[in-house]
Amino acid sequence: MSVPASLQRNLALPAIAAPMFLVSGPEMVIAACRAGMIGSFPAPNARTSADLEDWIGQIEAALAETPQAAPWAINLVVHPSNDRFPADLECVVRHKVPLVITALGSPTRVIDAVHSYGGLVFADVNSVGFARKAAAAGVDGLVLVAAGAGGHTGQTAGFAFVEEVRQFWSGPIVLGGAISTGQAIRAAEVLGADLAYLGTSLIACEESLAAPDYKDMVVAAGAEDIVPSKGITGVTANWLRLSLVAAGYDPANMPEDKQPNFENAQDDAKAWKNVWSAGQGVGAVRAAEPLGAIVERLKSEYAAACSLPRFAAKE
Ligand SMILES: Cc1cc2nc3c(=O)[nH]c(=O)nc-3n(C[C@H](O)[C@H](O)[C@H](O)COP(=O)(O)O)c2cc1C
Repeated sequence: MSVPASLQRNLALPAIAAPMFLVSGPEMVIAACRAGMIGSFPAPNARTSADLEDWIGQIEAALAETPQAAPWAINLVVHPSNDRFPADLECVVRHKVPLVITALGSPTRVIDAVHSYGGLVFADVNSVGFARKAAAAGVDGLVLVAAGAGGHTGQTAGFAFVEEVRQFWSGPIVLGGAISTGQAIRAAEVLGADLAYLGTSLIACEESLAAPDYKDMVVAAGAEDIVPSKGITGVTANWLRLSLVAAGYDPANMPEDKQPNFENAQDDAKAWKNVWSAGQGVGAVRAAEPLGAIVERLKSEYAAACSLPRFAAKE
């Protein structure tokens, strides 16, 4: 396992609770870390940089009371149009957040600042080309968001993605995309990833900020209910079919000409509040449960998968 020692501390599973817009907040991060998974949230979920400071304070205080908690991460939108970036980065540096996961742009803008206090930078990438660029920029880890993922999904199958990236990158790899069970976490390791990135399977957890109807829809949905479209944010993302219908869209005829705009996360929030995202791994979610109970199940599935008998060739 090539996970840096600082991230392995108190880890009960090789997995990160992935950052989710309007879904992950301090409660979810704290629950994930206490259960032994790396917790994370996207900075724009805190409405202002002052709120971000407050959220970080809540996480630090709760984790200080739990010596056996796993590390945590913040997801920063590094796109040049994100006006809040300088203030959010200052806050991250002031609090020495252990892991920064960059999204929607080049990680170069954060590397020196985060390294200055000994923090780590992982870049979220959705193609082999972006993985190559992030590796060249000097990141500490790559988060490969593969096909089938919730949110702004990649288009490359995880099986192919890890293999190609491993040809030029020997550092930590996190794999995301429809990993919703302990056996899938083990499979990600077998492919050559170090950590799994779980989003969709945690949307319905009790600690998530998702609305109750959203959680119910996730519990009821299967892979066939997931519709990829550029029409909501201008970037291809996976959406729950029934939420598209409820918002007045025709899932079979989505508008595909929308232009992305990362300037104001609160504008984006209007879109994400009406239309709900989930990935193809949604079928594994059968109940809205406390995050700790989900992690317990993942741990026993993972342990069982680690001791599965292998194929034995006939002589
Ligand atoms: C509702 C939702 C919101 C998301 N928001 C973000 C985000 O704000 N930033 C980000 O980097 N990734 C975001 N993602 C992607 C996740 O971090 C992760 O890559 C993905 O969920 C992993 O695949 P899975 O959903 O199949 O488990 C989001 C995913 C979902 C389902």
